[in-house]
Amino acid sequence: MTLIDNLEWRYATKKFDPSKKVSAQHIELLKRAIQLSPSSYGLQLYKILIIEDSTIKEQLKSVSFGQSQVTDASHVFVFCNYVKVTDEDIDAYFSLKSQIEQVNISDFKGYSDFIKADVNSRTLAEKNQWTSNQTYLAFGNLLNACSELKIDACPMEGFNTIAYNKILGLDKLGLNATVIAAIGYRSEQDNSQNTSKVRKPMENLFIEHK
Ligand SMILES: Cc1cc2nc3c(=O)[nH]c(=O)nc-3n(C[C@H](O)[C@H](O)[C@H](O)COP(=O)(O)O)c2cc1C
Repeated sequence: MTLIDNLEWRYATKKFDPSKKVSAQHIELLKRAIQLSPSSYGLQLYKILIIEDSTIKEQLKSVSFGQSQVTDASHVFVFCNYVKVTDEDIDAYFSLKSQIEQVNISDFKGYSDFIKADVNSRTLAEKNQWTSNQTYLAFGNLLNACSELKIDACPMEGFNTIAYNKILGLDKLGLNATVIAAIGYRSEQDNSQNTSKVRKPMENLFIEHK
């Protein structure tokens, strides 16, 4: 199975080769993998910043515990979740759905009201948690797509969220930096590539009711 081979190949890259860049064509494929990710109700309540600019990367590194992946990687994908979820976000989804499916928007009224009631029953903290959960699904797809294209990646939560939100102007966009991925190509000197995968044995990971 190719997916398993890819998952065995990938590892959280600690040292990137700063001279190697991911091609524009591959960036488009990675964007497509993220775009195709499933999300709760299909709402896609997130945005992804793709940072290539070295000045911004330097700023981000200083609030990422100095992790060199942020500056040495070709691109940094910053996954951001919506902080609030409004009725307008749900209306925007149904407007798009009615256009794409060529269905009158009024046909979706019942379903739309149902989603609004569900979303509005949540506290702001719960909404934030919910949108951030969705973000991780798209994030996982990015990592898998990278491995298929033999692009290295480091998934990272080791950064100061408040500082990221400030540097990237996320607050005023109603966004919050959830998780990031530095992507590029491994340095030959990255020792992590030679270490064995540390994973729980199957019997500790699964409970099967047959
Ligand atoms: C959500 C998440 C956050 C992570 N944050 C960091 C990080 O800030 N820095 C880092 O070097 N690795 C980070 N990692 C990498 C993990 O330590 C790594 O995935 C795990 O040890 C398994 O190793 P492998 O990915 O090489 O198989 C993170 C991984 C995930 C999934």
